[in-house]
This record gives sequence, structure tokens and C-alpha cells, in this order.
Amino acid sequence: MTIAVFGATGMVGSRVIAESVARGHRVLALSRKPGNGDPNVTPVAVDVGDPEAVHEALAGTTAPGTAAAGVTATGTTAPGTAAAGPTAPGAATAGVTATGTTATGAPATGTTPPRPADAVILSVRTFPADREFLVGATRTVLDAAARLGVRVLVIGGAGALRSPGDPDLLVADNRAYVPDEYRAVALAGTAQLRTCEAHADADWVYLSPPAELEPGERTGRYRRGTDTLLTASDDGRSWISAEDLAVAVVDEVENPGTERHITFVHRPST
Ligand SMILES: NC(=O)c1ccc[n+]([C@@H]2O[C@H](COP(=O)([O-])OP(=O)(O)OC[C@H]3O[C@@H](n4cnc5c(N)ncnc54)[C@H](OP(=O)(O)O)[C@@H]3O)[C@@H](O)[C@H]2O)c1
Repeated sequence: MTIAVFGATGMVGSRVIAESVARGHRVLALSRKPGNGDPNVTPVAVDVGDPEAVHEALAGTTAPGTAAAGVTATGTTAPGTAAAGPTAPGAATAGVTATGTTATGAPATGTTPPRPADAVILSVRTFPADREFLVGATRTVLDAAARLGVRVLVIGGAGALRSPGDPDLLVADNRAYVPDEYRAVALAGTAQLRTCEAHADADWVYLSPPAELEPGERTGRYRRGTDTLLTASDDGRSWISAEDLAVAVVDEVENPGTERHITFVHRPST
């Protein structure tokens, strides 16, 4: 399959890419500053807030040598003049073009031409959390995916889950899981789920991670649930490593379930 990953440089997206490549899939690595180097990974610089660029990237029509709409071709950017940080639409990105050429104009190592996506993973966020950005980006990706007829797996937040033992209480509203300082982040994730639910045409699944999600060990063991927060059977914690979440994500892409809201938690060995 060709799997498009928005948030390619992120904690989760980068691990989803590694897992996908390890299983022999091709990847479109999508972010404003995608890396490169693996022949099975095509970096495409795209701002997820730019509908035309998002559609081109997913359709695989980002032409070699030209930038996706909204991103300036670095072939026209003198070395050393590319912006170093996050850029606004229309600005040059840090050394990588929409097609993976470097700021010097040389082809990026291992770059292969873009292909149409067979599946899309949306795994983006901003610091601080920006609810409008998240809702707009989600709608943009769902719109493009619906036009192209591909499924989107949205990696969102735990806040959108129901509380264990209290199905009417969302995790976002439960102080046992979400202290006040994280409430805005949790509510942004809930708004993202509502955006998916309101989309009439797209084929989507919304993945809420457990409460704790951090880099760790790839065990390949996890338990799958639907719309209620899960806790691990040994220590009662709601957690998974980002590596094992990536295993679960790629499993879900390869064998899609029927539920629209899913979650995963670490599964101990015994
Ligand atoms: N327990 C939980 O519920 C929990 C915990 C952690 C994460 N999460 C969720 O998991 C998802 C991924 O999180 P993460 O930790 O992997 O995030 P991260 O490490 O902060 O990465 C964010 C990604 O978003 C991309 N991005 C941001 N703005 C963009 C834009 N305008 N256009 C294109 N790409 C953009 C960034 O790439 P560029 O900067 O290169 O554009 C980067 O790849 C998020 O939905 C997050 O809320 C949930």
C-alpha cells in the first residue's frame, strides 16, 4: 500500500512511518518540513491548512521539480535562505521541497516520485493546542480524502473517550484524567472527533490514544477498544508506547475494523 502520513516528523507519525516501511509499504511523508532518506519514503512538504496542496499530495500529483500549492520550491531558494522554523503557507520550508529536493537543488537521497495514497493517517498538532487549526486541518484532509475515495485514520486525543464506569462523562471533563491545564488540549481533540462525525462523505476512523502516550519499547502487544478509555490489566495505567501505537495503527490500516471510534492500550506479556 501507499500510506500518506500527515505529521510525518512528529512523535507518532515518525513511528507510524517506520512501522509501515518495515512491513514493506510505501509512505508519503507529509509535513511542512519532512525528512527523507529511505527509498520507500517520499517526503512531500505540505501545509495541512492548504486544501489544494493537501489534495495534490494525496492524489500523488505533486509534480517533480515543482512545489505543492502553498509551498515555495526550494530550487528557487538560495542555500541558507530557507526558513528555519515553522512557516506560513507560501513560505519556503527548511531545506526540503515538495518533492524532496534539498535547498541546494540536489535530489534528496532515496526520493521516489509521489503516488496516490491508498490510506491516509492524520497525526498533527500544534503547541499550544489550536482548536481552530485542528478542526480546519481535519476538515481539509477529510474533504480531499472523500474526493479521492481513500480512508482516513485520525490520531486524536484521549479526551474524546468515555470514562471507564461512567459512560456519560467524557475523559476531557474528568479531572481524574485531565487536569485543568490540559483541558483545552482535550477539548480540541473532542472538537476534532465532532468534525469527523459531521463530515457526510468521508470514510474515517478516529483513534483516541490512552491517557499516556510516550516513546518507549516496541512489544507488538496491545489491546483494542472502541469509545471508552482502557487501562492496562497489570498496573491499571492507561498507557501505550508510541511504538506499539504505531503497530496498532498499521494493523488497523491493513485490516480496517467497522467501528468509527477506537482506542488501544498496552497489553502485558502475561
Ligand atoms: N494521550 C493522548 O491523547 C495523546 C498524547 C500524545 C499525542 N496525542 C495525539 O497524537 C497526535 C500526534 O501527536 P504527536 O505527539 O506525534 O505530535 P508532534 O510530535 O507535536 O508532531 C506534530 C506534527 O504535526 C505537524 N504539523 C503541525 N502543523 C502542521 C501544518 N500546518 N501542516 C502540516 N503539518 C503540520 C508537524 O510537522 P511540521 O512541523 O514539520 O509541519 C509534526 O509532524 C496528535 O493528534 C496528538 O494530539 C494524543
